[in-house]
Amino acid sequence: MACIKIFAFLTLLALAKAQQNFHTAHMEHNAHRESLVRNDDYIDAHRRQYAFNIWYYDVQINEFKASYLDRVKGMEYQKDSLLIEIDRADEKLYPIKLLSDFSKSCVNKYEAIIPAKEWAKTEMDRCMSQASNKVDYLVTYMVSTNRTLQNQYSNVFEKQVASCETRFNTSSLAVNQTLCLSNAVAETNTFTQNNQKTFSTQLEEAHNDANINIKALHECSFAVQNTTLIKISEANTRIDRCVYGIDDCTQCQGHFCTDVYPISSSKIDPKNPTMANPFYGRSETGSCLMLNIY
Ligand SMILES: *[C@@H]1O[C@H](CO)[C@@H](O)[C@H](O)[C@H]1NC(C)=O
Ligand SMILES: *[C@@H]1O[C@H](CO)[C@@H](O)[C@H](O)[C@H]1NC(C)=O
Ligand SMILES: *[C@@H]1O[C@H](CO)[C@@H](O)[C@H](O)[C@H]1NC(C)=O
Ligand SMILES: *[C@@H]1O[C@H](CO)[C@@H](O)[C@H](O)[C@H]1NC(C)=O
Repeated sequence: MACIKIFAFLTLLALAKAQQNFHTAHMEHNAHRESLVRNDDYIDAHRRQYAFNIWYYDVQINEFKASYLDRVKGMEYQKDSLLIEIDRADEKLYPIKLLSDFSKSCVNKYEAIIPAKEWAKTEMDRCMSQASNKVDYLVTYMVSTNRTLQNQYSNVFEKQVASCETRFNTSSLAVNQTLCLSNAVAETNTFTQNNQKTFSTQLEEAHNDANINIKALHECSFAVQNTTLIKISEANTRIDRCVYGIDDCTQCQGHFCTDVYPISSSKIDPKNPTMANPFYGRSETGSCLMLNIY
């Protein structure tokens, strides 16, 4: 982009210089018989300059759009990482399911908390299309300025040229034609300069608006990532607590108690009628007691 800018600037300088020389040379020769022919060259040189101005607008608008869309597309990477994160969370549950029927029931109970990959993908895509859909809106004013300038060239300027040519169409009126054309060129150049000032302001504003949209895109995808990661962590916590028997008992389905008594397997002796008493020293019996044998 910088390269194109510098190149375009040098080209403009070169063109401006060439035109200056040409203009001077043109004025010196305008009394000659071949002046009408030279007038054509003079106008053609300006037409090329005008075509270049429009071409350069087109380049800037398209560059702007492409770089904005690239920034939006950068979010694909974060989407992919998030989907991998969901895969990992799902994979982590698989060995827990194999561990026992009980741990499998814990996984079954809570795994639905983990957001579906499809959901995360859709939400991230939604954030990205919200941003990319705005690309045409961002360049609306510049496109309109481009159209205005093109209209000035193809309608106003060309009509003035045609009028100069028909009004002063003989060799004896060559000077008059030259003056008429110079006026048309001067008017068009002033119009062009003002139009270019407008365009630069619009390009600057479009850059600011683009930054605002990209920020909104980051917030949108952050919310999706945050929700996903928080839910994964919630599912893991609940499954862990369930497996360790400290599940929220309002949701228990007769599998376990909140009351856990830890007992070493070495203390368990099926042949001994008087094993350690887990209720010893307790003030309440409770409704259930789970042995955590370690
Ligand atoms: C700018 O105007 C030219 C001439 O009308 C047109 O060909 C080009 O597509 C326009 N560029 C944009 C980006 O609108
Ligand atoms: C120049 O213009 C006059 C009147 O507008 C017309 O009669 C004449 O044919 C024209 N000559 C040329 C060479 O176009
Ligand atoms: C052409 O220019 C000369 C000198 O400026 C002027 O006297 C003459 O009236 C002009 N002719 C026409 C047809 O405008
Ligand atoms: C992340 O998501 C959780 C749950 O949806 C929410 O409570 C929290 O406020 C979010 N954090 C941020 C920084 O948005």
